[in-house]
Amino acid sequence: MSQTKIMITGATGLLGRALFSELNSRFNVIGTGFNRAEGNIIKLDLHDQDAVANSLIEHKPQVVIHAAAERNPDICSNKPEQAIALNVAASKFLAEQCEAIGAKLILISTDYVFDGQDAPYLENAAPNPLNLYGQSKQQAEQAVLAVAKTHSVIRVPVLYGDVTHLGESAVTTLAQQLSATAPSSHDNWAIRYPTHVADIAMSIRDLIQQQDKLGGIFHISGTQKMTKYQMACLMADALGYDSNLLEPLGQPNDGTPRPYNCALENKRLKAMGIHYERGFAKAIAEIIRAHINK
Ligand SMILES: NC(=O)c1ccc[n+]([C@@H]2O[C@H](COP(=O)([O-])OP(=O)(O)OC[C@H]3O[C@@H](n4cnc5c(N)ncnc54)[C@H](OP(=O)(O)O)[C@@H]3O)[C@@H](O)[C@H]2O)c1
Repeated sequence: MSQTKIMITGATGLLGRALFSELNSRFNVIGTGFNRAEGNIIKLDLHDQDAVANSLIEHKPQVVIHAAAERNPDICSNKPEQAIALNVAASKFLAEQCEAIGAKLILISTDYVFDGQDAPYLENAAPNPLNLYGQSKQQAEQAVLAVAKTHSVIRVPVLYGDVTHLGESAVTTLAQQLSATAPSSHDNWAIRYPTHVADIAMSIRDLIQQQDKLGGIFHISGTQKMTKYQMACLMADALGYDSNLLEPLGQPNDGTPRPYNCALENKRLKAMGIHYERGFAKAIAEIIRAHINK
């Protein structure tokens, strides 16, 4: 086991849990969460600056993966001050405190920093977020990268994985909207690249093993291109439902504007030989069957 000490914020969340489980067997890992923190996950409120500074001094991690955020675009639009406080101000403070103890920060960011009109996006493409969530993450990126050259940003697209309940991710939520007998409508306009959190965790593991390469922006994304309607059809097949009951919607119907197609090109990580991607249809079938058959 490597002696590298890694702290993960948001270790109770969808991506953070996968990171904790993947990294824990190879590194010395400290997971932090907030409302759901229990057992081996430390409770750390990222708004409490004294607690954040003291926790870093106490644990002295070499790398901090910052996965905690408000990631729901509708909540961000409805509560902008709350979203900016967590996504921007807390990220900036954490970046400064990491620099003070010589730790490298990895900020998890999003494809929503782009407007979706000019895909695919390389790591150095110009962001132009369409909603407050994307704006808050872009501001966090700028703040973190301005603190230290060795701090990093990792942008990821819509995530799925081992959810605590189907409503936990934007992908598995679709399964809740399906019925064996009733029709349902799904967005067939926006192009997405659903990516399994365990694949992202393995890429981050490999990147940390080459710690001298940390710094600047990285993209991690799967390449399976699909709309929510297409994801829902695969889920209907997995559940044995009639996919003719699903209606494709040709126009966006979200309250908060969302980008059309933010395909992320993983140029830097691929050049390092790092890419993991499981088949979506099989992986999502296993996840939703486990919940629907409970
Ligand atoms: N989910 C996606 O589809 C998606 C897509 C693109 C990018 N991302 C980015 O990926 C990262 C991880 O997303 P996720 O889906 O794993 O998020 P998530 O499941 O919603 O988890 C959010 C995490 O933030 C923690 N948190 C919230 N408020 C906090 C506070 N005041 N102090 C400390 N921790 C706090 C939560 O802790 P408790 O639950 O314990 O309170 C939880 O661990 C985020 O940066 C997000 O922007 C996500």
